Amino acid sequence: MTYECILTATQGAGPRKTGVITLNRPKALNALNDQLMNELGDALHAYEADEGIGCIVITGSERAFAAGADIPAMAQHSFMSAFKSGLISKNWEVLREIRKPVIAAVAGFALGGGCELAMMCDFIIAADTAKFGQPEIKLGIIPGAGGTQRLPRAVGKSKAMDMLLTARMMNADEAERAGLVSRVVPFEKLMDEALAAAEAINAMSGPSVMLIKELVNLAYQAPLSDAVAVERRYFHALFGTDDQREGMAAFVEKRAPVFRHS
Ligand code: CAA
Repeated sequence: MTYECILTATQGAGPRKTGVITLNRPKALNALNDQLMNELGDALHAYEADEGIGCIVITGSERAFAAGADIPAMAQHSFMSAFKSGLISKNWEVLREIRKPVIAAVAGFALGGGCELAMMCDFIIAADTAKFGQPEIKLGIIPGAGGTQRLPRAVGKSKAMDMLLTARMMNADEAERAGLVSRVVPFEKLMDEALAAAEAINAMSGPSVMLIKELVNLAYQAPLSDAVAVERRYFHALFGTDDQREGMAAFVEKRAPVFRHS
């Protein structure tokens, strides 16, 4: 498929590859308009359906992962047009439908919807140049893609309130200390690091990968005792897979496992 606001590429040496999606509206610092979000949704669904893809990486440019929702495109909205068109909700929820792991590789600005998009991914690897922020308050609005909910879960109430109310940006080191990002690397190593993480995941058993993603997300929604009970059932269920037999046999035989994702 041909896209105008994103680039797609398949990477990786192993049998399961990584789908890489690069946000590509450089003149607008990758501002997230409807066309870009629709294309992102189409690309994510295509990788989700492709048996040869194990993991997805979303990245931007050196200057910006994304500087937020497209402000001129939003500026003319009234309450009624925002409400009726489902502004933000209708084509932003797509990441929640993706069951394969999605890694955000962030350099430069990740602001507003850009920060929210990164937080919708399963984990964030940041370049040392990354800057995270939720500056919507300066526009007379509030975050509309989960920023008031996901940021406190990621960095705690105090830091989230500080960022949301003052609109200050957080640099990569502070974001790592706060738990918003999993790793920080020099900008030049960002894609290598993200692709190596994706490749490590691609080599794991597919059913285990998908269940871990589902269960970690459940941790944010269900009471602990219910979620632990679900985990126990999935743990039992994996003893019905070829990959469990292969993984344990490989350990005993002191060799690397070769998973069939079944
Ligand atoms: N939407 C549309 N265009 C944007 C944009 C955005 N969110 N952010 C930057 N741009 C455009 C600028 O208008 C500018 O375009 P022109 O060259 O045509 O004038 C171009 O990108 C470069 O930007 P700057 O000249 O401003 O670059 P800078 O280095 O001086 O500043 C910045 C960079 C700090 C990121 C600044 O551009 C900025 O503050 N951007 C807006 C950030 C923001 O408020 N994001 C939240 C949006 S609302 C939202 O996201 C709601 C939600 O929850 C989903």
